[in-house]
Amino acid sequence: MLHSENTQPISDGDWEYQWAPYDLPTYQTVLKQLLPDDIVLDIGAGDLRLARQMAETVCKVYGVEINPAILNQGVDQSESLPGNLIPICADARVMDIPSEVTVGVLLMRHCAHFKVYADRLKEIKCPRLITNARWRMGVETIDLLAPRIKLEIVKIGWYACWCGAVGFKNGPVELLTPETDAIINEVIECPDCLHHKSKN
Ligand SMILES: C[S@@+](CC[C@H](N)C(=O)[O-])C[C@H]1O[C@@H](n2cnc3c(N)ncnc32)[C@H](O)[C@@H]1O
Repeated sequence: MLHSENTQPISDGDWEYQWAPYDLPTYQTVLKQLLPDDIVLDIGAGDLRLARQMAETVCKVYGVEINPAILNQGVDQSESLPGNLIPICADARVMDIPSEVTVGVLLMRHCAHFKVYADRLKEIKCPRLITNARWRMGVETIDLLAPRIKLEIVKIGWYACWCGAVGFKNGPVELLTPETDAIINEVIECPDCLHHKSKN
């Protein structure tokens, strides 16, 4: 197992430090969105239960977990780790992300550092992030390299922001049609951005 020296403190009472595995339907949604050539960065991999499943269908998986006790549970299981699964005990907010990563997986509904992860993956030109961090219950695949517009340009409708916030922008009701209601506008500079900036 690899250990990183770069670790920022997360207090024990912090939501993000709590390990809570997700259910099979959630994992299946993630697995369906992976490609055979993918090199995955599993952020907050817990006991590697999803990482093991992903390793069966993709090229390589880096399973990053900040809590050594949880990660050790996954490493020490009777079934040895597949050769293409690399467990890393590190803080994913500050570790060196391998530049070969093609997709991030962030199953962390209460994630308060979405923008940190999105920024870091974009820095290495990673094109996709599969996550439930923005919509909480729903897993989405985010195109990290797609252009984003300022929220002020959206006249009415749903938005998902680079900072991790989501919401509905009110506007002239006559513009709200089934088509505009079905669109999620990828934006920057939403009202929550300032708040997130101060937290991160
Ligand atoms: C909600 S659990 C999900 C675990 C795993 N994805 C699963 O489905 O079993 C979130 C995990 O992320 C880990 N975590 C939180 N912040 C982290 C960070 N900055 N770097 C690495 N792991 C982190 C927590 O310790 C916890 O195990």
